[in-house]
Amino acid sequence: MELFIVSLWLWQLPAMVLSATSLEFQDQRDDSCLTYVHDSLLHIDCSDRGLTDLPEGLDTNAQVLLLANNNFATFPSQLEKFSKVEVMDLSGNLLSSSLPAYFQDWNQLTILNLSHNNYDSWLNSVYTFNFIKLDLSKNKINHIDEEAFIRMPRLYLLELSENRLYDILPRIFQQATSLEVLILSRNYFSVVPHFESASLKNLHLSNCQITSFDKNSLKGMPSLLEIDLSINQIETIPDHLASNSLQELDLSYNEIEKLTDSTFSMLPHLAVLNLRGNGFREVWSTSHFASNPFLREVHVKGNRWSCDGFSVNLLLTYEFLTKEPPKVFDKASLICYSPSNVTQMSWQQAYIRTWHADGGSMSSYTIGAVVFGMVIGIILTSFVCRLLMSKNKPVPPRPTSETIVLNGDAIQPRPDSVVLRVPLREDLPPTYDEALLLSTLNSSFRSLPDFIDESDNRERGNRRSRSIGDLTETRPRLDRRSVRQTAVEVRLN
Ligand SMILES: *[C@@H]1O[C@H](CO)[C@@H](O)[C@H](O)[C@H]1NC(C)=O
Ligand SMILES: *[C@@H]1O[C@H](CO)[C@@H](O)[C@H](O)[C@H]1NC(C)=O
Repeated sequence: MELFIVSLWLWQLPAMVLSATSLEFQDQRDDSCLTYVHDSLLHIDCSDRGLTDLPEGLDTNAQVLLLANNNFATFPSQLEKFSKVEVMDLSGNLLSSSLPAYFQDWNQLTILNLSHNNYDSWLNSVYTFNFIKLDLSKNKINHIDEEAFIRMPRLYLLELSENRLYDILPRIFQQATSLEVLILSRNYFSVVPHFESASLKNLHLSNCQITSFDKNSLKGMPSLLEIDLSINQIETIPDHLASNSLQELDLSYNEIEKLTDSTFSMLPHLAVLNLRGNGFREVWSTSHFASNPFLREVHVKGNRWSCDGFSVNLLLTYEFLTKEPPKVFDKASLICYSPSNVTQMSWQQAYIRTWHADGGSMSSYTIGAVVFGMVIGIILTSFVCRLLMSKNKPVPPRPTSETIVLNGDAIQPRPDSVVLRVPLREDLPPTYDEALLLSTLNSSFRSLPDFIDESDNRERGNRRSRSIGDLTETRPRLDRRSVRQTAVEVRLN
């Protein structure tokens, strides 16, 4: 008998559970909100319910209060009871009033989301708030009081994107001493705003119609690591733009056409540079990066590089950007856009192709002479410098042999003349990157085409007669690496 009752009860169990569940569901329907525990935080979710005030009977111990996408035009009257709340999402409402005074006593309230409301200004408050993240994006804010954020000592992230800001007062963040991330994208700035923040690390100013940019723009932000200025209308990066901390500079999708040796000269910690989608044509010189020893990532895609003139920069900058470890990960972005006879070729290929222009009408003899002339030219410079240096360093060079292959896809007229052995000196300090730091680098590179031109007409003997001292001693047959050696030695003297 007992067994029968138990089994009957068991049989009924699913139905009971089912009715209990539907009862619970009924309850939730009644107060329109979901209550649940997630990550051991009590959540109340009243989002998307068209509410104009909070329903009665909600658990006021809630730690996460989700009230997004309702019709609150003021902070709901019931809200005051939720003093344990840590995260409050009021995005997508119609709020425009100042923050209620009772927020100041809510020490736990650290994330407040007021995105997509009706604020047109953000005013001073006499209260101190504990927010760590404050989201004010997608409002219509065109004015921020100078002291609006001074009583937010813990504020770490401030979202102000998609507002109507034209300017920011210089001292506005001065006392927000924890502020590290500031998002000002999609506003109406026309210049990079000057303001002071000792703590700021990450500044977003994307898509703001910014056209200009002062070299001292970043001066007030001594901790700044990253600035995003993408999708603006900047035409020039000011010479000597200065920041001792900046590591990442995103200027993609602007209208920049030129870099100079001064552009990045005051950014000693620059590591990541994004210049995608700008108006560059002339291939950069490696000397533009002479002050940026930590540069490790460069984005260049979407520029219409002109390989006209076939300057030696094509080769040197190509190598600078692609040599292990590569700074440009997508080699296909280093291609010529013009002139038409080298379109789609890499900078390196285009450079090499100049030596058999007109589809090989130039005889391989001439090409050989040109390459040889170039090599001799380099030797001369190198030799003179070495001679001068030998006064300081009497230790003779210890030759080790290293083979370097010029790895172009184009056909090499005389592989022998390109595969070269170089005696490397152990006491010669620089790595490639170090060599690039030297300010004299550019001038010695620039002198290269001169050698090349001359070498067309000059004979070997001629070249030798110009040398100083004895060329017959262990003389290196040079390749591109020797170009670097030359540059380095010039500097050492
Ligand atoms: C605020 O809410 C919006 C819209 O719901 C959301 O996209 C955004 O990520 C939220 N902000 C924060 C800081 O959580
Ligand atoms: C391409 O054309 C230019 C003139 O526009 C010429 O100087 C150059 O030698 C040509 N290069 C090749 C590889 O045909």
